[in-house]
Amino acid sequence: MRQWQAQFIAHPQPCAEGDPAPYFRKVFEVGPGLRRAVLYVTALGLVEPYVNGSRVGDEVLSPGWTSYRERLMVSDYEVTSLLQPGANALGAIVGEGWAVGALTWSKANHQYADRPALFMQLELEYEDQRTEQVVTRPTSAPAKASDWTVGFGGVRANGLYDGETFDARLEPAGWATPGFSGQDWGPVIGYDWPAESLRLASVPPIRRIEELPVKSVTISPTGYPILYFGQNIAGWVHLRMTRPKPGQDVIIRHAEALKPDGSLERETNRTAEATDRYIAAGNESEEWEPRFTFHGFRYVEVEGWRGNPAPEDFRAVVVHSDMDRHGWFESSHPLLDQLHSNTVWSMRDNFVGIPTDCPQRDERLGWTGDLNAFIPTATYLYDVEAVVSSWLADLMIEQGKHGNMPRSAPLVDPRPSQPTALWGDAIVNVPWSLYQEYGDIELLRRCWPAMRSFVDEVAGLLDERGLWRTGFQYGDWCDPDAPPREPGQGKTDRYLMAQAFYSRTTAQMARIAALLGETELASRYAGLDRRVRQAFRDEYVQERGVVRGETSTGYALAICFGLLEPGQVDYAGKRLKGIMAGRGYTISSGFAGTPFVADALTLTGHLDGAYRMLLQTECPSFLYPVTMGATTIWERWDAILPDGSLHRTGMTSLNHYALGAVCDWVHRVVGGLSSAEPGWARILVAPQPGGGLTWAQTSHVTPLGLASVRWEISQGGMTLQVIVPEGATAEVRLPLHPEGLVTVQGPGEHEWTYPVAATD
Ligand code: BGC
Repeated sequence: MRQWQAQFIAHPQPCAEGDPAPYFRKVFEVGPGLRRAVLYVTALGLVEPYVNGSRVGDEVLSPGWTSYRERLMVSDYEVTSLLQPGANALGAIVGEGWAVGALTWSKANHQYADRPALFMQLELEYEDQRTEQVVTRPTSAPAKASDWTVGFGGVRANGLYDGETFDARLEPAGWATPGFSGQDWGPVIGYDWPAESLRLASVPPIRRIEELPVKSVTISPTGYPILYFGQNIAGWVHLRMTRPKPGQDVIIRHAEALKPDGSLERETNRTAEATDRYIAAGNESEEWEPRFTFHGFRYVEVEGWRGNPAPEDFRAVVVHSDMDRHGWFESSHPLLDQLHSNTVWSMRDNFVGIPTDCPQRDERLGWTGDLNAFIPTATYLYDVEAVVSSWLADLMIEQGKHGNMPRSAPLVDPRPSQPTALWGDAIVNVPWSLYQEYGDIELLRRCWPAMRSFVDEVAGLLDERGLWRTGFQYGDWCDPDAPPREPGQGKTDRYLMAQAFYSRTTAQMARIAALLGETELASRYAGLDRRVRQAFRDEYVQERGVVRGETSTGYALAICFGLLEPGQVDYAGKRLKGIMAGRGYTISSGFAGTPFVADALTLTGHLDGAYRMLLQTECPSFLYPVTMGATTIWERWDAILPDGSLHRTGMTSLNHYALGAVCDWVHRVVGGLSSAEPGWARILVAPQPGGGLTWAQTSHVTPLGLASVRWEISQGGMTLQVIVPEGATAEVRLPLHPEGLVTVQGPGEHEWTYPVAATD
């Protein structure tokens, strides 16, 4: 481990709500012959580092959110070109962020520290091998001119949920340059923090990823202009003012939607104020964007602007973890393409440092169940290996600390946790899904003790028949038939669901144990799986294959998790199709069931039913939000009602990725691309056209390189084009081929054309 010489430093006073952000600075000398300079930076809070007045790097919201006490990420920057022989200055502004500011619906602050604190270590290497360090240290007594000092500037109140206020009149010019006098700046104190928590950042940083222009401007009933950016995003607004009045106070309120009367619908933010404020200095031209907050929004209302705002003076800045895009899908169906785009955007908006539930309201927490539902889609769309592995490390830390699997990580929710299906078993299925994608067995090895601890805990809760029938369960969360204010009261028996998920988990455990060479444990978990599966059959399945409660979720889980006798599967598939047909192929499942319904229909020979469900536009359905203009995936199927008003339940985030999990099926079955072995060395190409689609294409950057599939039906003929990356082979099942041709292909580009019978 690197030896750190720096200490955390802070303002002598703890920080209260609404306090300004501390600015830190120090002047130091650089001798002649500097060869290389590297700056290491982190903070309790969010840090923006400076060298000689220049902003260092392009990370925002740094150091992101981890279980700080055990894992606090340190960023390193090569800063050689920013330094000069003679006097130089280091500076940093530190906002409250996750460590100090308010978190969760209870808006509890000081979760990790009672004030923002800075850690900086600058390492200088000279041509003659000499090295020097400039590090954060408490002010000496008596104070020296070269000591670190702290003052305040333009950044006033700053909170992730509530927003940021910047008073440009208070920003001291040149505060991060050596010449600044800093007369009224004061001493810093040391802030106690475990150095063992520090580690060099291994995750892609959060960055400004793109900027969106204003699409239109309307006037709200309040009389203020509302700017529309066309896309629900996570981020903030950059503004430019020409000749503002000194003290002109511009207030920017963010919202995901408008009310039918054209005013901002802010209820989806719950208690998050989501309001930024810029107080102008009165210069010829001023530009600003916040540093220490982010919002989930598509619209902003601007108060305090003089005259009509010109669209070019505002840009929406999209902010998230800078991951590489790995997956694409397009088809002949524009609404389906919009659903896919909405899923991609909800993923982007919810990967701000950690995978979260939503970016707009007073949560933005690393909920386990949401990611568990979405992980196969996530691994296809983006390279999530580093971000999700980091989140898993925190999940395991919290589990170790609290003695049970938390519902979210990093953990700040004070409610004690109990083992639950979908939320708790994320510790098995999420690493398992990463293993499927990346083929890295070491991750399974690292997670193994945590997996065992969860699975063994649940084993201890089973009754004498092998049933998990005690304790809290979220159930099929957000089932559209649950009472609006009780999303956990879905119609599928919560213990049936728990049993089904536990069976999937125990089966995965047996396979992981075998992979890790734990032969004895492999047979123990296989035995547990048999017991749990049998108990499921005995308790919940009637002879022919009727699954108790007759819900789409019950059938989908039973079919997809292999919980039925072979002779029961057909009947269960028919019943599932019957249930879906009886509801006109609208959706009747929540977070737990929805990812599996399309697969269950496909597996039992009802592909047509799967397409009808996918392409249904009546509420509740995948495409209903699309017809209502959604640009992201909603938490509830009916978050916005057909009359345009918001469902008044408090559970109406318009940006929750979980239900976008259907895109995994879209990639595998509509596009036709999936891996047949962990790490993609064997690929399955098996598009199953339907739903009247005439073409679809999907591609994915596998660990071996780009794989892609494109199919098109025109004039009774099929064209199939496939790219197989170097090092892989693909089993290609030619769609709608008259003889059902299946072939195995090596790397390269392949194409087939042949006549087909017409599809529906
Ligand atoms: C979150 C969910 C989460 C759930 C569990 C909600 O408030 O937004 O997505 O999984 O709580 O309780």
